[in-house]
Amino acid sequence: MQDRLEDVKAQIQTALDDAMAHLPQGELTDAMRYACIGGKRIRAFLVMESARLFGIEDAAALPAAAAVEALHAYSLVHDDLPAMDDDDLRRGLPTVHVQWSEATAILAGDALQSLAFGLLSDDRIGTAETRMALIAGFAEAVGARGMVWGQALDIAAETAIAPPDLVAIKRMQQAKTGALIQFSATAGAVLAGQDPEPLAEYARNLGLAFQIQDDILDVTGNEAETGKRIGKDDAAGKATFVSLLGLDGAQEKARKLIRHAEAALEPYGEAAGNLRQLARFVIERDA
Ligand code: IPE
Ligand code: IPE
Ligand code: MG
Ligand code: MG
Ligand code: MG
Repeated sequence: MQDRLEDVKAQIQTALDDAMAHLPQGELTDAMRYACIGGKRIRAFLVMESARLFGIEDAAALPAAAAVEALHAYSLVHDDLPAMDDDDLRRGLPTVHVQWSEATAILAGDALQSLAFGLLSDDRIGTAETRMALIAGFAEAVGARGMVWGQALDIAAETAIAPPDLVAIKRMQQAKTGALIQFSATAGAVLAGQDPEPLAEYARNLGLAFQIQDDILDVTGNEAETGKRIGKDDAAGKATFVSLLGLDGAQEKARKLIRHAEAALEPYGEAAGNLRQLARFVIERDA
């Protein structure tokens, strides 16, 4: 899996650099490029590996994988803004609004989102019909029913009088992190015109476990490895699985989810080896 992840990272960097080379150069594009530096590229890996399961070549999946990472980079730039989580460190570097300004961070995020939709219309991806299906699914996953909705619930929970219960936290996490992860993991099936349900089941469990591990690392991690500030969730009064279940409870929950994620891959047999390893990596990671 590690080799494939490195390979995906290199392909994504090239695809994003190419996509941004055609834009007018200046502070805005500098900030966009900066926001795309680093990252584990887990979502891109999910796109590329789910595509490979169905015999889709990397060249056809790459624009979709790059789109997902561009969208994710935008979500991080905006997540870090003073009005949101107010963070000054991301991927081991000063956040975009610290490096430039809030205006540039807002605009770079906006433009990365547009870039993502543009990448999904790339004609190296399947037929026009396939691209339309992907774009429609992407719009659902990242908008007011998906990622942005989850972010709104996350922010609202900070000031709620009663802390959200497990059901509410799960709904929030599934939207803010789960929706884009589910889009990524099912992209291969959509590209191939196959049933996405087993991958969707994998992704629902993986996405939740992924966010639980993110919340755990906010307590137990260190800045050198995560590349972001630690202890921010508790300080901001965030509602997380850790705040509700405690560290042990959250860890147990994540392990259980990963067992379910692995079980969902059974229909794909050996071919899903990398996706199985990724599931384990998600809860074992330190970054
Ligand atoms: C961080 O995502 C934000 C969440 C949705 C929890 P990642 O942990 O995937 O961030 P990068 O891309 O590796 O920096
Ligand atoms: C962010 O969740 C989810 C996004 C959609 C960006 P967090 O706020 O927990 O992510 P980090 O911990 O800042 O990376
Ligand atoms: Mg946040
Ligand atoms: Mg944050
Ligand atoms: Mg976090």
